Amino acid sequence: MHESRYTEPVLSWYAANARDLPWRRPDASPWAVLVSEIMLQQTPVVRVLPSYEAWLARWPVPAALAAEPPGEAVRAWGRLGYPRRALNLHASARAIVDRHGGVVPADYDELRALPGVGAYTAAAVASFAYRRRHAVLDTNVRRVLARVVTGVQYPPKAQTTAEVRLAEELLPPDPPVAALWSVAVMELGALVCTARAPRCADCPLSGDCTWRLAGKPAYDGPARKG
Ligand code: ADE
Repeated sequence: MHESRYTEPVLSWYAANARDLPWRRPDASPWAVLVSEIMLQQTPVVRVLPSYEAWLARWPVPAALAAEPPGEAVRAWGRLGYPRRALNLHASARAIVDRHGGVVPADYDELRALPGVGAYTAAAVASFAYRRRHAVLDTNVRRVLARVVTGVQYPPKAQTTAEVRLAEELLPPDPPVAALWSVAVMELGALVCTARAPRCADCPLSGDCTWRLAGKPAYDGPARKG
C-alpha cells in the first residue's frame, strides 16, 4: 500500500473546488454522517440538504429518534423518496441504543450489521466519521477509477472484486488522508468526471487518464444506464 501519483493532484483539486457540505464539516457527528449517507443513497445533494438539517435539529442523537414511533421517521422523511430508508434509520437508531450504548459504532462489521447499512455506507461512516482506513466505493468513485486507471468509459454494472482491490491499492496509507482521498474522488466524479458529459479540461488527472489518452472510446459492454 503506497501513495499513488493520483493522490496529490486530486487532493489539491479538492481543496480548491469542494462544495461546503454540512456532513463534511469537522463538527459533523458520526450520527450526522450516517444520516447523510442514508439520505444521499438515492437522493441528490440539493434535495437532501433541508431534510438533513431538519432531521438533525429534531433528532441530534440516535436516542432521540429511537424514542419516537417509526411513523414519525417516515413523516419527517417527507419527499426524499424510498421511505424504507426512514424505517431503516429508525431501526438503526434503536439498534445503536440497544447494542452500542447510543453511540454509532466505528467498527465496519458493526456498522454493516445495522438495518439499511450496506458495504458502501459502512465504509463511508467508518472512514468519514471515525477516520478508519476503508476504501469507499460509490458510483462516482467507480466511474473515476474505471476511466483514469482501467481506461473504460463506465465501470461494470455490478461491483467486482477487481474494483475493490484497485480502490484498496490506491488508498493512501494514512487513515485521515485516505478519508480525504475518498471524498475527493467522489467529488471529482460528481462535479467533473460526470457520467454523460465529463469536463476533462477541468480535471486534475486529465494528463494521466487512460480513457482520455485512448481517445475516450465509447463503452462497449452490455447495455447500462450510465
Ligand atoms: N460527502 C460524503 N459522502 C457523500 C455522498 N454520499 N454524496 C455527496 N457528498 C458526500
